[in-house]
Amino acid sequence: MRITLRLILALVLAAAAVVFISTGFQARQEQVRLEEELERRASVLAESLQESAEPLVASENLEGLRRLVQRFGDRERLAGIVVYASDGQPLAITASLPARFQELPEIAREAVQTDQGRDAFLVVGQQRWHLEVLPLHRAGQVGGALLLVHDASYIDVQRNGLWRQNFVRLLFHVLLISLITLLIVQWNLLRPLSKTIEWIRRLRTGELSEHESLPKGELFGPLAREVTHMAKSLTVARAAAEEEAKLRHAGESHWTAERLKEHVRSVLQGRALVVVANREPYVHIREGRQIRWVMPASGLVTAVEPILRACGGTWIAHGSGDADRETADAHGKLKVPPETPSYTLKRVWLTKEEEDGYYYCFANEGLWPLCHIAHTRPIFKADAWAEYQRVNAKFAAAVLEELEGTEHPCVLIQDYHFALLPRLIKARRPDAMVALFWHIPWPNPEAFAICPWARDLLDGMLGADLLGFHIQFHCNNFLDTVDRLVESRIDWERFAVNRHEQTTLVKPFPISIAAEEMNEPYTGGARPATSTIRENLLKGLGVTASYLGVGVDRIDYTKGIGERFRAIERFLEQHKEFQGQFTFVELGAPSRTLIKRYHDLGAELDAEADRINRRFQTRTWKPIIFLKKHHSHAEIAPFYQAANLCLVTSLHDGMNLVAKEFIAARTDGQGVLILSGLTGASRELHDALIVNPYDIDQTADAIHVALTMGEAEQRARMERMRQTIHERNIYRWAADLVSELARLRPAREPKVSPAAPQAV
Ligand code: F6P
Repeated sequence: MRITLRLILALVLAAAAVVFISTGFQARQEQVRLEEELERRASVLAESLQESAEPLVASENLEGLRRLVQRFGDRERLAGIVVYASDGQPLAITASLPARFQELPEIAREAVQTDQGRDAFLVVGQQRWHLEVLPLHRAGQVGGALLLVHDASYIDVQRNGLWRQNFVRLLFHVLLISLITLLIVQWNLLRPLSKTIEWIRRLRTGELSEHESLPKGELFGPLAREVTHMAKSLTVARAAAEEEAKLRHAGESHWTAERLKEHVRSVLQGRALVVVANREPYVHIREGRQIRWVMPASGLVTAVEPILRACGGTWIAHGSGDADRETADAHGKLKVPPETPSYTLKRVWLTKEEEDGYYYCFANEGLWPLCHIAHTRPIFKADAWAEYQRVNAKFAAAVLEELEGTEHPCVLIQDYHFALLPRLIKARRPDAMVALFWHIPWPNPEAFAICPWARDLLDGMLGADLLGFHIQFHCNNFLDTVDRLVESRIDWERFAVNRHEQTTLVKPFPISIAAEEMNEPYTGGARPATSTIRENLLKGLGVTASYLGVGVDRIDYTKGIGERFRAIERFLEQHKEFQGQFTFVELGAPSRTLIKRYHDLGAELDAEADRINRRFQTRTWKPIIFLKKHHSHAEIAPFYQAANLCLVTSLHDGMNLVAKEFIAARTDGQGVLILSGLTGASRELHDALIVNPYDIDQTADAIHVALTMGEAEQRARMERMRQTIHERNIYRWAADLVSELARLRPAREPKVSPAAPQAV
């Protein structure tokens, strides 16, 4: 308020001063104009009178002179005329002229003496006069003078009138403009500003609920965004500090982003951290004229991204978005996350042939079904293998370029897309500490051996210092495979492979999520009760039901989505009382759709959901809602928060992070997780209802158990699982991996000579 008052006062004073000066200037100009006009008029009149008066003076015709002055004496603004003799005596004078002009004034005397015309303004008392004098000649000599006296006081009156009029008018205009400006400032600036100040104050004092957002407005858009980010960081920092304090108090060992950051800093001691993964964490896509980014549906991204956020470094990935090139620099680099940049994303560009051969064909039609026992036959093609080698070499070149000028850098390679990369990097940079984490299962030796290039793949992988799998079982399978297929010495005590003077340690690192950060704020404001979120979701989907189930997957044949649908069908057959009561929502993200098997799967699942729905659905209810599109974390969050059960029925899965995300979201301690025993997650989440996804009846039973489970049991199970994922979160995963890698000191110094990896 004080600001507004000050603003008003300042505006009024400034406006008044400006108007005063400018109208004063105008009035002065008007005065000059009027004076010049009067001078001109007086001079013309004097000259014409001079012509008439001189013969009369010469002939000493006083009567003629008197008539002359009387005739001209009543002209507009002319106060009078005087004709003087050369001795200064008035010969003729207008009767109405003040007596003081009877005497020859000084100016007339000068005109007579110099024989030159004169004019001047004269102020007498309150009155202003204009005097115009011309000498009168008689026989070539100055014989007198002619004086014209004008009343000039009208000039002051007009000047003052004009000034007053203009001043009032202009002041009114300026005040009006100032008032409008003030109102605009008040509405667009001061109000949002005071709301912002109030918001920041409440944030600082902790009175603000996390969902109350800043006032919006065009002017405040960027500020609001920045302050919101700052507020988020503040909230996160405050929560982290509280968590740290709590943990210190409880004496527990818990990993947070901050702790990981410190840990990685002390372990790496300034060495560069580079992550290589096929999938990038931020994909830029074009929508009409706009470019926006999306975070892809990927367990790998969910897990690894928080690590880079915490520790910084570089993530090297395939630039797959149609607007990726426009949003990166000439080196394919950009700072991410877009809102709070904290690490570098370096995009590697692939041709269509490379992407088809390396990603779609060799990695996803070959290695993916090879490693997942889901009874889809792997396809191996020689030209796809050539592309796989070429792209691995391309990524190796990108990594090596990034490692230039660094010493003992730490390289974390992700997944089955890059089996050859560890060897390619180590050949050129033996000083680098290289880890490869395999995010999918590893099959038994017989299964793996059917790959025509099984030995090449193993050779590439054994270039790494450290090889990670989710569970010990996959480590054992890998060591068995190495034992069977390549010449090497296996140290079964340390779980290490010695080959060509290189030791590769093979260890399980069960991957996880940033559990605390998964609790996405409820999008509609302050988080309502679980039952209200559920009602709203079902209403939004156009069904009436009491129970909600959720599944969240990439649409992939390994996820057992069809088996899940059939288990729901069986459950409804067996428990008719749940018909019209239970709706299952599958949030399916289309994935790898250029592969026929994946493309067909989408249609198969649609048909299966339709078939089951037709059997049971009513006018207001249906059992399965299959939403086939990319869903953001914020869109998925309310489903996790409100579902009575979550179904994870993968036929084979390295870990499965959906199971962990569901648990992380259940701050209310409710909800039941039904989890396939064929996932890595089932080794940790013992309080889930573990099922064999191939056993439709068993899954149907589990659905019934989940929907009839008492609140207390749900809470007890959920609490134990929540404790597990909080203790074994992604920060601990990263800390374990980096610590283990840092312990393995590379023996040799960097080589300079070998040629860069060549594409085949
Ligand atoms: O689960 C294996 C995996 O490669 C993950 O690492 C990744 O999150 C997921 O599949 C997604 O696959 P894509 O990157 O091919 O979409």
